[in-house]
Amino acid sequence: MEKIALIGSGLIGTGWGIVFSESGRNPVLYDTDINALDKALMEIEKGLSDLDEYGLIYEPPETILSRVSTSTNLEEVLDGAVHVQESIPERAELKKDLFEKLDKMVPNDVTIASSTSTIPVSAFTEHLPGRERCIVIHPGTPPHLLRLVEIVPSPWTSSRVVTKSRDLMEDCRQATSVLKKEIQGFVLNRIQYAVISEVYRLWEDEVAGIEDIEKTVREALGLRWSFMGAMETISLNAPGGVPDYNNRYGQWVNEINTSQKARQWSEESVNRLETERLKSRPSVDNSSRRSWRDKRLMALLAHKRDRSKIEGD
Ligand SMILES: NC(=O)c1ccc[n+]([C@@H]2O[C@H](COP(=O)([O-])OP(=O)(O)OC[C@H]3O[C@@H](n4cnc5c(N)ncnc54)[C@H](O)[C@@H]3O)[C@@H](O)[C@H]2O)c1
Repeated sequence: MEKIALIGSGLIGTGWGIVFSESGRNPVLYDTDINALDKALMEIEKGLSDLDEYGLIYEPPETILSRVSTSTNLEEVLDGAVHVQESIPERAELKKDLFEKLDKMVPNDVTIASSTSTIPVSAFTEHLPGRERCIVIHPGTPPHLLRLVEIVPSPWTSSRVVTKSRDLMEDCRQATSVLKKEIQGFVLNRIQYAVISEVYRLWEDEVAGIEDIEKTVREALGLRWSFMGAMETISLNAPGGVPDYNNRYGQWVNEINTSQKARQWSEESVNRLETERLKSRPSVDNSSRRSWRDKRLMALLAHKRDRSKIEGD
């Protein structure tokens, strides 16, 4: 069985633990904080049990869990690993230090991937002798439920490493999106940031209250986007597809687009937004709400899997 080294065992490292163990591999989780490792194991156990409840795994959860282990000894974690996945905090200088260390410790034919959400891998690997095996594999949150990864090579990542990363992820039942070039935020977060920036502007300009704006995302746009892309969505809103949509609505798209000026988020406004937002949401703590979200995602995944067998994709 293939050993996978997971460096950093917070929210994302934990999700990777589920993804890799579920695919029959042996993930070994490493963290500089021993408490994070204990927490990760508990979360993996809970995640697997929930997945089982929703019929989304194909072996008993105990069997999958038995493939997961933890260690605070980096050398031991890396020894014999066929893939290294880094998920430490989003700070370029931390990643630079770690990649420097990993590049010295890991054999040349082993891929070293970063889970970074926004930073191109070239920002912290340029000086490394083994830089051609460094790549971004950016998961969604949580990685075992949002089953798409962005694969982002730097200008010096070898094409062999891109192919190997894509094959590994597809074998782990992840859909893959391979970017043609590096860009800050990749595709997922650029789209997400465009949406949240407009939500913020509309709220700050008092066009609508936060709950009404959130409702619009939740009950309207998000519903279609859960099984269709943005362009396919608009193609069905005009009889002649996207060109017809452009003829009918392109002028408004362009006018609104050019009026959407960049806006710095202010701490005071963010705090006010959060206070207003929490008034319309159930009063539960963040971690219980995350667990609720995961179960809704699992139900949606099971629904999508079952309906695509009947109706196609
Ligand atoms: N949270 C998200 O929504 C999300 C989604 C996709 C990708 N990511 C990316 O994944 C990475 C991790 O994010 P997260 O949300 O899991 O963060 P997190 O804070 O939950 O976990 C980070 C973990 O790394 C550990 N750590 C710190 N320095 C370390 C080191 N040198 N060696 C080993 N472990 C170390 C910390 O103790 C902590 O447990 C970031 O780059 C982030 O941008 C996050």
